Amino acid sequence: MATFNLLLLPGDGIGPEVMNEVKRVAFWFNETGVVSFNIDEDLVGGCAYDEYGEPITDAAMQRATAADAVMLGAVGGPKWDGVPYDKRPEAGLLRLRRDLGLFANLRPAICYPALADSSSLKREVVEGLDIMIVRELTGGAYFGEPKEVVTLEDGQQRAVDTQVYTSSEIERIARVAFDLARKRRNLVHSAEKRNVMRTGVLWNEVVTRVHQDSYSDVELTHILADNCAMQLVRWPKQFDVIVTDNLFGDMLSDEAAMLTGSLGMLPSASLGEAQASGRKRAMYEPVHGSAPDIAGKGIANPIAMLASFAMALRYSFDLAEEADMLERAITSVLDQGLRTGDIMQEGMSRVGTDEMGKAIVAALEAQA
Ligand code: NAI
Ligand code: MG
Repeated sequence: MATFNLLLLPGDGIGPEVMNEVKRVAFWFNETGVVSFNIDEDLVGGCAYDEYGEPITDAAMQRATAADAVMLGAVGGPKWDGVPYDKRPEAGLLRLRRDLGLFANLRPAICYPALADSSSLKREVVEGLDIMIVRELTGGAYFGEPKEVVTLEDGQQRAVDTQVYTSSEIERIARVAFDLARKRRNLVHSAEKRNVMRTGVLWNEVVTRVHQDSYSDVELTHILADNCAMQLVRWPKQFDVIVTDNLFGDMLSDEAAMLTGSLGMLPSASLGEAQASGRKRAMYEPVHGSAPDIAGKGIANPIAMLASFAMALRYSFDLAEEADMLERAITSVLDQGLRTGDIMQEGMSRVGTDEMGKAIVAALEAQA
């Protein structure tokens, strides 16, 4: 039986509440006897600052490095507004992403049939939607040097951010996108601005070369990033995998995510290089934050966190069948009419965090 080491970092606010439901589901998988998760837990964010004076300790970082996958809840909240900049809760998250080398951010946008009317777009535009945005996460304009503000002789200020990409950075993110596409609908759109940016020209050339050399079975389309933004709201179902840089990916992933409704539904994965074991460093987290306005009330939607766990099953553990089961269980509870407050609709049954988690386990049970 395959054994996997999971590190849970529940964090702050609703983080621990939604992470409880990951434990419930992981324990259920343990009981089926198909797979065994060793579960370890540590602090990150404001709670770690309160306990240790650091948003993540070196010991927790070591555990994260050794784990087969990290599940993160959420960090932050008004309680830590006055904390020094380098100790703020988000610094723990950034250290995890940086030190684990998580260069590939995967953000799916999935439209659950039961929620197709919650979108701001028409039902027929979003029904059945299943897009994966692959955003480069450790390069580009957010990290390039020089990055500075200088005062000029005439007293004006001049700010500079630099968009930098090397061919190897582009190649490794392109490979992630092509590999994903092969497990999906075999279609990749690569979005850049080759018409006005040198990095766009290089991006286009490298993606074309990687495609020709190793992935000619996948259908590749180059698209200008601004057109991609338009097409996402015009007819999003034309897309399967979209690969793009850090800056465009920030915008396009938020745009794609919101085609489908609530923040409480959206998972993400951040992947690094393959290790000697063959497994990639990886961290999975919901897109939402710590939701201090509803924390401690037991009403948070655990679906984004559980869908993030489904991504871990699929991308870290190669448990595609179990990932499908969990995703079907989520679809099934929505079809049954169960809704947390954030996705509540007229005539549906309002449930809390743990009721939703229990219903999802029952829906897993029904498939076993
Ligand atoms: P947020 O995502 O925490 O909340 C935005 C709104 O969505 C709130 O009304 C919240 O109640 C609701 N919401 C979010 N997740 C939900 C869920 N699972 N179920 C039901 N409702 C949900 O974003 P906000 O309010 O901007 O930030 C709150 C704190 O979280 C801040 O300290 C922020 O820095 C932090 N944050 C942390 C992130 C992370 O850990 N990755 C990401 C975004 C924000
Ligand atoms: Mg963003």
